[in-house]
Amino acid sequence: MADILTIKNVSKSFGGLKAITDLFFETQEGSITAIIGPNGAGKTTLFNLISGLYKADSGSIFFKNLRIDTLKPHKIPYLGIARTFQKLSVFPNMNVLENIMVGRYSLSSSGFFTCAFNLKRYRKEERDIREKALFWLDFMNIDHIWNKNIKEIPFEKQRIVEITRAVVSEPELILLDEPAAGLNITETKNLIDTINKIRELGKTVLIVEHDIDLIMEISDKIIVLNFGHKIADGQPKDVQKDERVISVYLGKEFSK
Ligand SMILES: Nc1ncnc2c1ncn2[C@@H]1O[C@H](COP(=O)(O)OP(=O)(O)OP(=O)(O)O)[C@@H](O)[C@H]1O
Ligand SMILES: [Mg+2]
Repeated sequence: MADILTIKNVSKSFGGLKAITDLFFETQEGSITAIIGPNGAGKTTLFNLISGLYKADSGSIFFKNLRIDTLKPHKIPYLGIARTFQKLSVFPNMNVLENIMVGRYSLSSSGFFTCAFNLKRYRKEERDIREKALFWLDFMNIDHIWNKNIKEIPFEKQRIVEITRAVVSEPELILLDEPAAGLNITETKNLIDTINKIRELGKTVLIVEHDIDLIMEISDKIIVLNFGHKIADGQPKDVQKDERVISVYLGKEFSK
């Protein structure tokens, strides 16, 4: 499988604080790569660099051999990269379907003038967006709550809505920042099934998570960050035994 994402010697500082230092790794197309590490290790910063919210101080980022770290953030979704946020991000005054349609509107070609003067084209686009959203609602098993206000549904389902809003743009690469945070064991198991289902479509997933059981179960590769430095990069079974990873993050009991 070809590499879909390449992080090449990327560094990012905030004032005197080095959040990411000389980071490099590759992600294969169709794989699940986990980024783990203690709080403040630079995981979310990495996602912000890939999605263009932050500019790297040095180094470069390639998506399918196209350099993307020089692009404006609003260009990134068009290339086929979507993300969720560590802090749940949903639109509170909309229902589930509308929340998901937003993910597709962001890629819509209709600007103000199309909406105002070319209603026919606008209506067709609106219909297409709705159809796509309904397809993904079904795929993610939340079709039965499509018309519920987002505030009325459980937190777990709100998380799924957020992930659905990312996948509705049909990206090739999906960045999930702590999707299991706040979920119980059963909900986490459901989330694992959902992520596996997304991967089965051939999508590439980059996931930041503190839930080590989830990470061990779904990842093809794990990158471990500590104070912005990569301290391990490999298959779960090897990373689990890595002395440095055990001492700074996993703890002894997990290495057995
Ligand atoms: N916009 C910013 N301005 C200043 N400092 C920042 C900014 N974003 C991140 N940092 C700092 O960079 C470091 C890495 O933060 P980051 O959010 O990437 O960590 P993380 O690995 O995602 O941690 P957590 O597991 O707690 O989410 C932290 O010390 C953080 O305070
Ligand atoms: Mg974070």
